[in-house]
Amino acid sequence: MAFGKIPRFSPSFSPSEALICAKQLLGLGDDDEAVREFEARFAEFIGVKHAVMVPSARYGLFLLLESLGIGDGDEVIIPALTYFAIPAMTELSGAKPVFADVGLHTHVLDPAAFEAAITPKTRAVIPTHLFGTPADMDAINAIAKAHNIAVIEDCAQSTGAKYKGQRVGGIGDHAYYTFGLTKNITTLSGAMVTTDDDAVAQHLHTTIENSGLSPASKSIKEALTGSAMFLATHPWLYWWTVHPAVVLGNALGKDPIHERFGETERCYDTLPTSYQNQARPRPIQAMVGLKQLERIEALNGARIQNGSALDRALGDIEGLGVPAYPQGSEPIYMSFVVHHADRDQLMQALRARGVDTTTGYMNDLSDHPLFERHRRPCPNAAEANRHLLHIPVHPNLSESDVSHLVDAIRSATEACRG
Ligand SMILES: Cc1ncc(COP(=O)(O)O)c(C=O)c1O
Repeated sequence: MAFGKIPRFSPSFSPSEALICAKQLLGLGDDDEAVREFEARFAEFIGVKHAVMVPSARYGLFLLLESLGIGDGDEVIIPALTYFAIPAMTELSGAKPVFADVGLHTHVLDPAAFEAAITPKTRAVIPTHLFGTPADMDAINAIAKAHNIAVIEDCAQSTGAKYKGQRVGGIGDHAYYTFGLTKNITTLSGAMVTTDDDAVAQHLHTTIENSGLSPASKSIKEALTGSAMFLATHPWLYWWTVHPAVVLGNALGKDPIHERFGETERCYDTLPTSYQNQARPRPIQAMVGLKQLERIEALNGARIQNGSALDRALGDIEGLGVPAYPQGSEPIYMSFVVHHADRDQLMQALRARGVDTTTGYMNDLSDHPLFERHRRPCPNAAEANRHLLHIPVHPNLSESDVSHLVDAIRSATEACRG
C-alpha cells in the first residue's frame, strides 16, 4: 500500500512470467511439449485422469455438453448467480438452462433448490464454486446420482480450492477452469477441462487438435496487458496513476476498470469462429501456466490468509453481511463479497478512504433480460445481486493493507449509517 490506496485486484502475472514471454518472442525457446506437460501436471494437481487445454471455459463447457450428447430437449441446471456465458453456451448446445437459487451469503448452488428444479429432462447440473467458495458437493453429488444427472463443476473462480480436503474439479464428473489475467492463475487467457472419462477427453483432444493455432498476436497482447497490470497495481505507481483515474471516472459516473476488462453480455447464434479455427493453445500459454502452477499454493495461500483475516474482523459490523461457507468448503477467496443495503454509498465511502471496490461481473440470470424465456424466481440471487460488493483480497495485500481495509470498512459503514 502506498498513501493508503488499495487496488481492487492485482494480477498473478509477474516479471518471471514476462521473462518467459520475452524469451519465447525472441525465439529462445518454443517447446511444443509444454502443452502436454502442463495438461499432465494440472491433472495431477487436481487429482484426475485427464486435463485438456481449451481457449475458454465456456467453449470447454460446450465441448463437454457435446461429448455427453446433451442438447435439444435436455435441461441443464445452473445456479442463478453466475456468469452469463454459462447459460448462453448451454443454449447454444440446444439444451435449456434451468436456474436454481443460491445460498444468500454462500453465493453457491443451494442443494434443495437444485433438487426442486429437477425434471425428467434434466441431464446435467453445473455447480459454480463462485468467488472461490466450493459448493456443497456431497449433497449435490448425492442428489445428482439419485437422478442420473452429470455433475459439471464450474471452477472458473476456484482453481486449487478444496472441499473436505479434495480439490474442486475432481469431485463431480467433469470440470472446467479459466486462466484470464484477472484470475488466481493465468495462461494469458485460455482455460482447461478435466475429466476421468476417457471418451470425453478423447473428444476434446481431437476437436482441439483439429483446430488452428491461437494467434501469436493474442498472446503478445495479453503478455503486454499482464505486464501493464502488474506495474499499474504496484503500490508506488497505483496511488498516483490508476487510483486518480478511477476516482475521476467515478465522478463522471463511469468505472474505467470495469469498462476495460468487462465483457458485453450476449447470447450466441453460432459458435464464434475463433473457437472453430483458433482453439489450439500456443506453447507460450502452457509455459506460463507451468510457472504459475509452481506458485499456485503460495498465491492461493496469500488469498486465504487475507480472506480469513477479513472473515475474523468484519463479522460484528452492524449493517454489513459477511460471506458464509458450506460445511467442508475450503475457499481460496478469489473474491471477498459483503452485502450492504446501500452498496453504492458504501462503495463511494470506501473509495474516499482509498479502497477501490467493484460490484463485479456476476448477475442474477434468473431475472435477466437475456434469459427472459427462462425466468424463475430465485430470491437469494436477486437479493445478493442488489447488495453485493467485492472487497480487495488479492495476494499482493500486505498485513498493513488488510488492517487499513478493516479500519476503512468500519469507518465507511459507520458513515453510511449517518
Ligand atoms: C464463474 C465463471 N464461469 C465461467 C466463466 C467463463 O470463463 P471464460 O471467459 O474462460 O469462458 C467465468 C469468467 O470469468 C466465470 O467467472
